Amino acid sequence: MTTPAPDRRSRWTRKIEADPGHSHWYVERFRRMRADGADLAGEARMVDAMLARGSRVLDAGCGPGRVGGELHRRGHVVVGVDVDPVLIEAAEQDAPGPTWLVEDLVELDLPARGVAEPFDAIVCAGNVMTFLAPGTEVEVLRRLGAHLAPEGRLAVGFGAGRGYAFVQFFADVEVAGLRLDLALSTWDLRPFTPESDFLVAVLRRA
Ligand SMILES: C[S@@+](CC[C@H](N)C(=O)[O-])C[C@H]1O[C@@H](n2cnc3c(N)ncnc32)[C@H](O)[C@@H]1O
Repeated sequence: MTTPAPDRRSRWTRKIEADPGHSHWYVERFRRMRADGADLAGEARMVDAMLARGSRVLDAGCGPGRVGGELHRRGHVVVGVDVDPVLIEAAEQDAPGPTWLVEDLVELDLPARGVAEPFDAIVCAGNVMTFLAPGTEVEVLRRLGAHLAPEGRLAVGFGAGRGYAFVQFFADVEVAGLRLDLALSTWDLRPFTPESDFLVAVLRRA
């Protein structure tokens, strides 16, 4: 008897297969929030503060380009990658300028896509880690680390209670060859404590 291969489709992909309207709903939700004047740039402001002007940034799991689009407007050279083609199409429409690519982070190999240079920062915001295929987190972190410049940093933010415990993430960071530089509980720099219900981790290559 053969063992079935593990399902490497991201949780997001499974969600949109079950509900094909979900991606369009998500795009429209953020369009409405922007039209209503909501502040959607908190993550980008923190990452921008970490960077020299005109840096190279990868928005990993970029969705419709909310974070990468803002970093582009702030003068950085941005590449955004997402597994959902509907969201990448929205990013191209709503946030022109960066390079937006459809790709699964578990297979991330940007030199193979003609994007050769490493990144000064990678941002992985909006609970992306909790939407990966279960069991692929180390591989995704390892691939993100491989795309960082030697002194580059990776900022990852996700919430508690979404099936990926913070302690597991901290263990996976080490297995993936990364090191935790800073743990915060918000993108506006409040400290992380054992009671925090959100984590913003700043990582670098070990
Ligand atoms: C809640 S959205 C956040 C989008 C964006 N980062 C933001 O903060 O606005 C989660 C995103 O993770 C992406 N995602 C989940 N698993 C992925 C994977 N394995 N590879 C690439 N993108 C993935 C989804 O397609 C979706 O766009």
